[in-house]
Amino acid sequence: MSINEIPPQLAVSGHEHCSLAELSQLAKLLNLPLHADKPKAHYLLHQSISRLELLNANEPSVKAIFVDFEAGKNHHRRLYGGGKGKDFSKALGLQKFPGATIIDATAGLGGDAFVMAALGCEVTLLERNPVVQQLLSDGLARADSSDDKDVQAIASKMRLVQQNATDYLDKLEADEYPQLIYLDPMFPSREKTALVKKEMRFFHDIVGKDEDSAELLETALTRSVERVIVKRPLRAETLNSRKVDFEIRGKTVRYDVYLGIRHSANHRPITN
Ligand SMILES: C[S@@+](CC[C@H](N)C(=O)[O-])C[C@H]1O[C@@H](n2cnc3c(N)ncnc32)[C@H](O)[C@@H]1O
Repeated sequence: MSINEIPPQLAVSGHEHCSLAELSQLAKLLNLPLHADKPKAHYLLHQSISRLELLNANEPSVKAIFVDFEAGKNHHRRLYGGGKGKDFSKALGLQKFPGATIIDATAGLGGDAFVMAALGCEVTLLERNPVVQQLLSDGLARADSSDDKDVQAIASKMRLVQQNATDYLDKLEADEYPQLIYLDPMFPSREKTALVKKEMRFFHDIVGKDEDSAELLETALTRSVERVIVKRPLRAETLNSRKVDFEIRGKTVRYDVYLGIRHSANHRPITN
């Protein structure tokens, strides 16, 4: 499947009281059929009473995919997964760059960006897949109007831009460069794990492989002032076989850290 292509087995559906006009608008925006017109669709982008979800129409027992910043994994990670001593914030360098401006160039379902914002950073989330954009935008809208004031405050530090990151970064003016750029592209070897977790399998089917992530890294390296951080599987090669400046190894993932343009030769003070 090529980048940005939405698989043909996906259709849009909604709960029984859902407005047909709104569903049709969503289907049109994504260039997808309505489920009523394509009853054999494998996956459904489904508007339930409370949220937008991705469902496996053939296996109803597989858990739906949706974005929820108020509960579940995101809530847990906010409380326990991003403390200042943890690998993630070490890789971001938040002791040195508190409240950093960050571009999360591969936003996905926004889990990592939510932890960054919870740690006080201002995060721009870039996502190019139209279905993932809708799921993320739905989760952010619910967080914006959450009864939990902390969740609301964190969401106010997250801004979603529905665009390809390489194009977005290319067009930045120098005074817009962020302190940090974060990359967490899909990698092929993840598929094995995804087979275990069925609910993630269809996320992979919808998004495909991020085969251009090496190009994205090269662009990011010209746009980040302090650091580019790449999340990788523990034993994977570095992206583009590029030598890292340093790495932080966790139990299951590794963060490859490249110093940004402020640290490059041209910006170093000349010493005699
Ligand atoms: C592994 S997921 C990221 C998961 C995310 N870190 C999280 O916590 O939910 C990778 C995502 O990056 C997106 N992506 C990959 N390359 C991109 C690019 N060049 N521009 C924008 N989005 C990109 C994919 O569409 C996919 O949704």
